[in-house]
Amino acid sequence: MDPFYGPGRNQLFVPGPVNIPEPVLQAMNRNNEDYRAPPVPALTKKLLADVPKIFKSTTGTPFLFPTTGTGAWESALTNTLSPRDRIISFEMGQFSLLWIDQMKRLNFDVDVVHCEWGTGVDLEILRTKLEADKEHKVKAICCVHNETATGVTNNLAAIRTVIDDCMHPALFLVDGVSSVCAIDFRMDEWGVDVALTGSQKALSLPTGLGIVCASPKALEATKTAKSLRVFFDWNDYLKFYKLGTYWPYTPSIQLLYGLRTALDLIFLEGLDNVIARHTRLGRATRLAVEAWGLKNCTQREEWYSDTVTAVVIPPYIDSTEIVKRAWKRYNLSLGLGLNKVAGKVFRIGHLGNLNELQLLGCLSGVEMVLKDIGYPVKLGSGVAAAAAYLQMTTPLIASRV
Ligand SMILES: Cc1ncc(COP(=O)(O)O)c(C=O)c1O
Repeated sequence: MDPFYGPGRNQLFVPGPVNIPEPVLQAMNRNNEDYRAPPVPALTKKLLADVPKIFKSTTGTPFLFPTTGTGAWESALTNTLSPRDRIISFEMGQFSLLWIDQMKRLNFDVDVVHCEWGTGVDLEILRTKLEADKEHKVKAICCVHNETATGVTNNLAAIRTVIDDCMHPALFLVDGVSSVCAIDFRMDEWGVDVALTGSQKALSLPTGLGIVCASPKALEATKTAKSLRVFFDWNDYLKFYKLGTYWPYTPSIQLLYGLRTALDLIFLEGLDNVIARHTRLGRATRLAVEAWGLKNCTQREEWYSDTVTAVVIPPYIDSTEIVKRAWKRYNLSLGLGLNKVAGKVFRIGHLGNLNELQLLGCLSGVEMVLKDIGYPVKLGSGVAAAAAYLQMTTPLIASRV
């Protein structure tokens, strides 16, 4: 028995891991199987055919690693690059910072562009760097699409345009951990060479799958990439793909069945409808924040994230207390401020298998906590602003029309 059990459902509004929908829980509630007997390869074959769709790719090759987003990062880097290769990357929050740290520890030569937390990729800096790189020493541009620590979404299409304008051959590696299946992501159209995500975010699965999709150019790069790699080597997977057995080591059977159902749910709703739902939930959250008289950590509208909102609170309040109290009093889980923004922001995750009424429950909880903690909020103000917008915009449920 959980000694911290609270009545009712926990309102899980951290920006991942997120709620797992009931059909996925049921699909995963099963015994282990012999993964060499026909059902698992048949299941895998179909999964590999469907996974590129979440990245909007028809040319990408998918890999399902038993890992997390961090492992997917390592897989992207080590399969495409060699030690001391130069990478341009942007540090704008805790997750871009951690990826850069990994790049350094893997012995790449990282040209780090430090951005103020709450801002996104500065396209002019990227342009200047690429224009100056006449010898094409830069081998990769690495970008976190959605910086989960600050709620900043970068414009991948604009980054691709800069790379193309400079006629630069660098690979474009993108962390889509808190964007894929929630925010528009077009791998082929935007010339993303490696796209990656983790199962515990918008796919609404347990943690444990690092999902990577490699473009033909990225696959070509593996042939000369000299980075040491063993567990994450794409070639081991490709060998087993050819054999039709798919797995170089034991897969998590339960996660594969869960992924099947998670994808089925997304396709049933329609990926673009899923993205539109996140657009609505993101906007509704921002309207509530505005109604509370609080600021979004994200400095410009062009970077607003539809999966996470980092809310800046006045300096006389410690945001950690908001998160603690929400959990202790209302059974509401909010995201802490991380690193540079610790104590200054709290985060509302609004991603995954989530609907409008759930979000309103969370917003009403946040209002009560703000009042508890001494912030002068009018109860109902944020909920009213969000509800007014959602009432106007929420469509009929696609499967019930
Ligand atoms: C944008 C982003 N990238 C990478 C990660 C790391 O993923 P994981 O914790 O699954 O290793 C996270 C985790 O929250 C994230 O938000």
